[in-house]
Amino acid sequence: MAGMFITLEGIDGSGKTTLLQLMTDHLQALGHTVLPTREPGGSMAGARLRALLLESVFGTVDDRAEALLYAADRAFHVAEVIRPALQRGEIVISDRYIDSGLAYQGGGRGLSLEMLLQINSFAVNGLMPDITFWLDLPVETALARLCGERDRLEQENIDFFRRTAAVYQQLAMTQPQRFLRIDAVQAPQMVLMEIMRVLGPRLG
Ligand code: TYD
Repeated sequence: MAGMFITLEGIDGSGKTTLLQLMTDHLQALGHTVLPTREPGGSMAGARLRALLLESVFGTVDDRAEALLYAADRAFHVAEVIRPALQRGEIVISDRYIDSGLAYQGGGRGLSLEMLLQINSFAVNGLMPDITFWLDLPVETALARLCGERDRLEQENIDFFRRTAAVYQQLAMTQPQRFLRIDAVQAPQMVLMEIMRVLGPRLG
């Protein structure tokens, strides 16, 4: 495929959303065509799934149902948004992707990573990111950054996020070519510079 697929990962409060905006602006200013997107909710149908997954009015969601809904959202996202954009040669940057499905449902919820890899591989039909930036920072710092009303997942306790972060750590160790750790304690502009140091040579 002609384009480039970049994903941003990290626990809630790690600054992915800010970085998505900064990266998009920066790459567009360099003349690239960029499609910023996110999970859950990156496709039309996904927007409905996002409400089901995050709005506390729906009460608790069974862990396995949750994992499958995130995977279904991802399948819509790949088929309707990501793959077509890559085929048009664009740079796609997604705020969360398959690694969130492993870290949150595997680490946070404690479901089998092997099973999650299977259902998610089915969902994405072979489409892995070219590169993933993991915005890493202490769990306490990240949670302190969250302001306003917290969604259903953000209401989880600190141990939930520690377990989630541990899976990200594992991914950084087992897939060092794709999954890169970035220190997210620093200011957003510094994070952007670090990301661009890696991306620059790849973009030519
Ligand atoms: P996020 O977009 O980070 O929320 P916000 O709009 O508040 O920035 O993601 C929503 C939540 O969904 C987040 O707590 C992580 C969770 N999530 C999973 O548990 N599994 C997944 O596969 C994905 C994509 C997200």
